[in-house]
Amino acid sequence: MSETSFTPRVFSGIQPTGNLHLGNYLGALKRFVDWQAMDAETIYCMVDLHAITVWQNPTDLQKSTRELCAGFIAAGLDPEKSILINQSQVPEHAQLAWVFNCVARMGWMQRMTQFKDKAGKNAQNASLGLFAYPALMAADILVYHATHVPVGEDQKQHLELARDIATKFNHDYGVDFFPITEPVIEGAGTRVMSLRDGTKKMSKSDVSDASRINLTDDADTIAKKIRKAKTDPDALPSEVEGLSDRAEAKNLVNIYAGLNNQSVEDVLVDVGGKQFSEFKPMLVELAVSKMSPITTEMARLMEHQDEIDKILARGAERARAITAPILRQTYDIIGMVPPAPF
Ligand code: AMP
Ligand code: TRP
Repeated sequence: MSETSFTPRVFSGIQPTGNLHLGNYLGALKRFVDWQAMDAETIYCMVDLHAITVWQNPTDLQKSTRELCAGFIAAGLDPEKSILINQSQVPEHAQLAWVFNCVARMGWMQRMTQFKDKAGKNAQNASLGLFAYPALMAADILVYHATHVPVGEDQKQHLELARDIATKFNHDYGVDFFPITEPVIEGAGTRVMSLRDGTKKMSKSDVSDASRINLTDDADTIAKKIRKAKTDPDALPSEVEGLSDRAEAKNLVNIYAGLNNQSVEDVLVDVGGKQFSEFKPMLVELAVSKMSPITTEMARLMEHQDEIDKILARGAERARAITAPILRQTYDIIGMVPPAPF
């Protein structure tokens, strides 16, 4: 089946679980804004149904969802250009996910490393939703016939599963209906690491707040965290190969490159030979200049929650104009009787 038979359409999502951080920004949000600037139809989602696969306090979930929407807009997403939605307000996501639960195989799900990581040792006690998580993610994407999905590297396996689900559905029903989605995992920021340990991913759930830069951190906090970030005693190399055994140095250079829209090679041309005592203040200045305006705008938007709620309601309405017909066609393909007009 050819991907070109579908209009290019970009979809991605982020979980509203608090602590939006620099990894989310460079790996996802910033890329969302880049796609919006290109000639693409862009749909971005706060995936609250994914969030509840692990326990969420209801009050916090509401706040985090609105805060994530504020973060989307503050980072440069324009609700007129991009469709911004809250997953639970577009019911077709969950409806298609059920169909995909019946397409995906147990064995496929059991191979998912994120499930194994999140479920930990006591997998019997994990929610059924956590196990089915990637089928809902496939539905998020395919209920729009999205063709491109910008994400960080940790989502690669889930996107491959979405392709497997689309392929099996098309094959089982003998149709050419769901597109085979392209993962878009590129640039310096696809895997931002912890500031305390360059071998661990920067994560919302890390107990150490010093390990990440949150989008809600003020300039002083950002500066403090970068100054304290783990490094090694050597000067920076001038070639990329010189970073290969230096996880922390590599991470800070990657972050610099991501924030400054440069390649790592180009950054090293400028900073090769410098000590961290010289490089860190450069990184502080860059990070503060790029992130502080976002933080300030997010805080301002959070004071207008009614506007955020209206943006989400409008987004859901626009989204459903796309998702309702695709779900109906799916139901027709699998043999669900359509409701007759009275
Ligand atoms: P999540 O916060 O898990 O919903 O992730 C939202 C998006 O941010 C996904 O596209 C992730 O791949 C991306 N992401 C999360 N953590 C990182 C990280 N440390 N580096 C790069 N991208 C990340
Ligand atoms: N699973 C993704 C994450 O945790 C979030 C997500 C849900 C998503 N549905 C999606 C990302 C669809 C891209 C496309 O990061």
